[in-house]
Amino acid sequence: MRFETLAIHAGERPEVTFGAISVPIYQTSTFAFETVGKTRGYDYSRTANPTRKVLEDTIAQLEGGKAGFAFATGMAAEATVMHLLKAGDHIISGDDVYGGTYRLFQDVMRDFGLEFTFLRLDDRQKIEAAIKPNTRMLWLETPSNPLLNIVDVEMVAEVAKKHHILTVIDNTFATPYFLQPIKYGIDLVVHSTTKYLNGHCDVVGGAVVTTTDELTQRVQFLLNAMGTCASPFDCWLVLRGIETLPVRMRQHEENALAVANYLTQHPAVKTTYYPGLESHPGHEIARRQMKGFGGVVSFETKGGRERVNTFLKRMEIFSLAESLGGVASLAEHPATMSHASMPKEHRGKVGITEELVRLSVGLENVDDLTDDLRQALEPG
Ligand SMILES: Cc1ncc(COP(=O)(O)O)c(C=O)c1O
Repeated sequence: MRFETLAIHAGERPEVTFGAISVPIYQTSTFAFETVGKTRGYDYSRTANPTRKVLEDTIAQLEGGKAGFAFATGMAAEATVMHLLKAGDHIISGDDVYGGTYRLFQDVMRDFGLEFTFLRLDDRQKIEAAIKPNTRMLWLETPSNPLLNIVDVEMVAEVAKKHHILTVIDNTFATPYFLQPIKYGIDLVVHSTTKYLNGHCDVVGGAVVTTTDELTQRVQFLLNAMGTCASPFDCWLVLRGIETLPVRMRQHEENALAVANYLTQHPAVKTTYYPGLESHPGHEIARRQMKGFGGVVSFETKGGRERVNTFLKRMEIFSLAESLGGVASLAEHPATMSHASMPKEHRGKVGITEELVRLSVGLENVDDLTDDLRQALEPG
């Protein structure tokens, strides 16, 4: 089956008891045993749940992986993955990862004896030079949040394989519709399903996709032991979102490209970041490894913080809100919102300025979106 068909039919669908086309929500904590020691396939919903199972199978198949796991949030998925490691291990991470990921690494996992090096993953020699005898994991995000930097996934996976280092990619921005990292040799894929996979801003969720039996068993163990799983209802919402993922992603991209082109020619805009623009430094790599460039566009205004504040206040269709990937367009200010948890010096180092705005371009009529940008950028 091809991607669009899998998005609708992967996993056990229709369900076997009554043939329900919409996956039933098994809103139960526990399951009656047939007899002592014999279940009907499920015993307790922390360990496994039939609604969750359909979502997990669907995400695994869309990513081309071995098994999928659904978590309460993207951060729950990431925290669980970090427990594959132990005190004394060293991790190389992209330097411009999501602010919450940076916070998890620096302010939580370091206290458990993990050691981190944050690096721009744009050069093979630089990565090789950062590898230490205790390096166990390489963490990457592409396109990155919020600067849309592109990492050459195949190159990074190759370097890591050579040194027997586990690779983890946060594929939230691209989604498996635009990027299938496992094809390039990545070991584990994580998602904030809160974003495009769900697509409607009505759930927070996360996912992990594995590539080996060993990783599958370990992630299943950790999910159950740590209790980081998603609820049945949330799984159902994400499943429903995934059914329309391909059509949504195509339209997100079409609208995002139009918005990026609009911004590049606007006199009040200093820089536009969108990997679909030929001027973007990662454009060629993105074109090679991705099927599309996604729906997030970031830009810097001229005129400092005052202009940014006025712009964010004047928007009418774009809402000033955290998150991204939903049908409704959102705008946010990374320095005070999504990346506020990143220290100012680190933000400065990676290029997240006070003038930077991130747009999650939704599925509204694109002329209405550019009209909104125009009136917000040109007050008075
Ligand atoms: C790229 C990326 N990864 C992970 C997360 C964390 O996901 P969640 O908010 O679902 O915990 C986010 C949230 O914004 C994100 O943008």
